[in-house]
Amino acid sequence: METSKDQMQKLKLAVLVSGSGTNLQSLIDAQKEGYFNSEIALVVSNKASAYGLTRAENSGIKAIVIESDKELLDTLLENEIDLIVLAGYLKVISPELINAYENKIINIHPSLLPEYGGHGMYGLHVHEKVFADKKDQTGATVHYVTAQVDEGPIIIQKTLRVDYDTIKSPEELQRAVLIIEHEILKEAIKIIESH
Ligand code: GRF
Repeated sequence: METSKDQMQKLKLAVLVSGSGTNLQSLIDAQKEGYFNSEIALVVSNKASAYGLTRAENSGIKAIVIESDKELLDTLLENEIDLIVLAGYLKVISPELINAYENKIINIHPSLLPEYGGHGMYGLHVHEKVFADKKDQTGATVHYVTAQVDEGPIIIQKTLRVDYDTIKSPEELQRAVLIIEHEILKEAIKIIESH
């Protein structure tokens, strides 16, 4: 039985970025088209140079740079954030933050976890390994963040079958997987709203 829109929770989201923010953009676009109920209330980066901050500002979303874990936790609590979305956030999340937001932090990872996850497996490194292993399929995963890197409960995954006649480099694989990331991240928000 389909959950009606008014039964779906409206969560205040904080999206944490460190780079270009195309996953953030996919959430901004999804919110604008009413794909989910929730609201992106805050965008935070640990890097002043992150283009994701510009994307937020261009959409009228509060965007701030924070380096310290303590300041990050205080800011999230002050803004009454319900769910933290790690979208290419390359800083390790502190145990204090994980405890304060237990089961309320999600992460998008560019592989079919548990494969190609864990320390050092982020960004292009993931695709370089998948490409070197000539895996016939890869994909993306949205999972809850726990103290063990990339091991939290999986919310949604989507598979990409890799055709090495068309995918000729890890960079091309990264571009193909990024499209899948954009599809499943907004879907993960909808799934959590219906809990
Ligand atoms: C994505 O590939 C994501 O899987 C990884 O970092 C990258 C972020 O890309 N965690 P963007 O900043 O959202 O474009």
